[in-house]
Amino acid sequence: MISCYDYVSAKIAASAGVDTLLAGDSAAQFVLGYDNTLSVTMDFMISITAGLRRAAPDLLLVADMPYAGSKNGRTETVNNAKRFMDESGADIVKIEMVEADLETIKAMVAAKIPVMPHLGIRPQTGVYKAEGTTAEVGAEITKLAEALYKIGAEMLLLEGTAREVAKIITEKLPIPVVSCGSGPDCDGQVLVLPDILNLRVGHSPKFTKAFGDVGKASYEAINLYHNQIVSGKFPDDEHSYHMKTGELDRLLKMIE
Ligand code: KIV
Repeated sequence: MISCYDYVSAKIAASAGVDTLLAGDSAAQFVLGYDNTLSVTMDFMISITAGLRRAAPDLLLVADMPYAGSKNGRTETVNNAKRFMDESGADIVKIEMVEADLETIKAMVAAKIPVMPHLGIRPQTGVYKAEGTTAEVGAEITKLAEALYKIGAEMLLLEGTAREVAKIITEKLPIPVVSCGSGPDCDGQVLVLPDILNLRVGHSPKFTKAFGDVGKASYEAINLYHNQIVSGKFPDDEHSYHMKTGELDRLLKMIE
């Protein structure tokens, strides 16, 4: 799974063999430049999710419930989850267990919305510290994961959780458990595309890895573009349109 935010990236991810796309609310940081994920609206999230759907009609598409979509209680959360399904073409809605509680998840399931609760590090809390590093917290996350499965969660996302805890949860639950920085023992993995491509501005969490340097390649291309314009090398005749034969003379007469 890849968390990405636009049509072109989703097309590339789909052609590169990724199974699942997530239109993550990390778009707040990577697309809009906010310090945290809290500022994105439902309308914005629906628009980017729909863009991913247009790019990849056949991939599993995960919508990401933003804080704005879940902060006003259960009924509004369920209505917003329905909006994702109806207006963006998402297959499942991921929701951080922050404003949402078990009753919210039950209400989503009752409304026939496939749901993927997000446990462990939940960026909407503003706390980015590894989770499940003690037996007590590990037990708490495991019990919550089991309860979520029992009430009908179809997938789970575990972010920044101790590998040992992620392994136990994955072994216990028959539903797909996707790790975002929770070790290799889960059923699937997700990272945000800017990390995979080394496009991050600022600090990267320990669990991410760059698999290429698109940041450097982008800088070089844009710098070359700029330099060729300044030096008069681009655009050249090869990249210009021309008037049909005889039309220039006619034009010059017309504007004399
Ligand atoms: O918003 C996002 O991109 C996410 C992933 C980090 C899992 O929630």
